[in-house]
Amino acid sequence: IKIAAIVPAAGVGSRMQVGYPKQYLKVAGKTILEHTLAKLGELSELCKIAVVVSDNDEYFCELALSEQRIMRVSGGKERAESVLNGLHALSEVQPDWVLVHDAARPLVLADDIRTLINECVRNDEGGILAAKVKDTIKRGNTHSLETVPREQLWQALTPQLFPYKNLKEALEQALSKGVLITDEASAMEWARQPVKLVSGRSDNIKITTPEDYDLACFLLAKQQE
Ligand code: CTP
Ligand code: MG
Repeated sequence: IKIAAIVPAAGVGSRMQVGYPKQYLKVAGKTILEHTLAKLGELSELCKIAVVVSDNDEYFCELALSEQRIMRVSGGKERAESVLNGLHALSEVQPDWVLVHDAARPLVLADDIRTLINECVRNDEGGILAAKVKDTIKRGNTHSLETVPREQLWQALTPQLFPYKNLKEALEQALSKGVLITDEASAMEWARQPVKLVSGRSDNIKITTPEDYDLACFLLAKQQE
């Protein structure tokens, strides 16, 4: 079986507020994107790694990337469009499966990715890394209207692994119909395709705000001890 990866890295990082895309912030001497690509690089299972970056990105070509499997792909306006561009760019490779992983999640461990791959391939169905919600969850605007039972609540992480053709079709159709797509699983749910929830480490955080960045610096330094 052939598995290719897509790394959406074409966002502007507006919530990070540093004046340049957050994937180029440095942590322990390397950019976030380099850390993420190093993690994926540990997986010999991946035949290609499509890194989706914005056309006017002037930082990507400055990175020290020795990985031969990387190809650069043009980003889209929304994350889902960036992923779709990645899927189209991979048509020359024709992978059986595609593994999508946010550039902004450098804390993922190769072991968790292998667990996801094994679970999905063994059961022949798509799936995502996810973590059971640990907090008490409230619904409401200014005042809490209710406490939402959390037995069935999961936090969606990445990577997300799906059959290449099914994901491409689901994303194309969902986007053309204007469905709100925030991850690959939401397109597959909309297309009524299976999304297996595979338990992953909850410290595989997405670096979104300055608080996340501080936490990631601590966690990455600890991982590298
Ligand atoms: N992404 C992308 N193309 C876009 C938007 C986002 O490839 N048009 C990528 C980001 O680079 C990031 C991942 O999708 O690796 C998750 O998105 P998010 O955390 O929202 O990043 P940004 O969109 O950059 O941040 P913000 O929403 O705060 O602007
Ligand atoms: Mg965004």
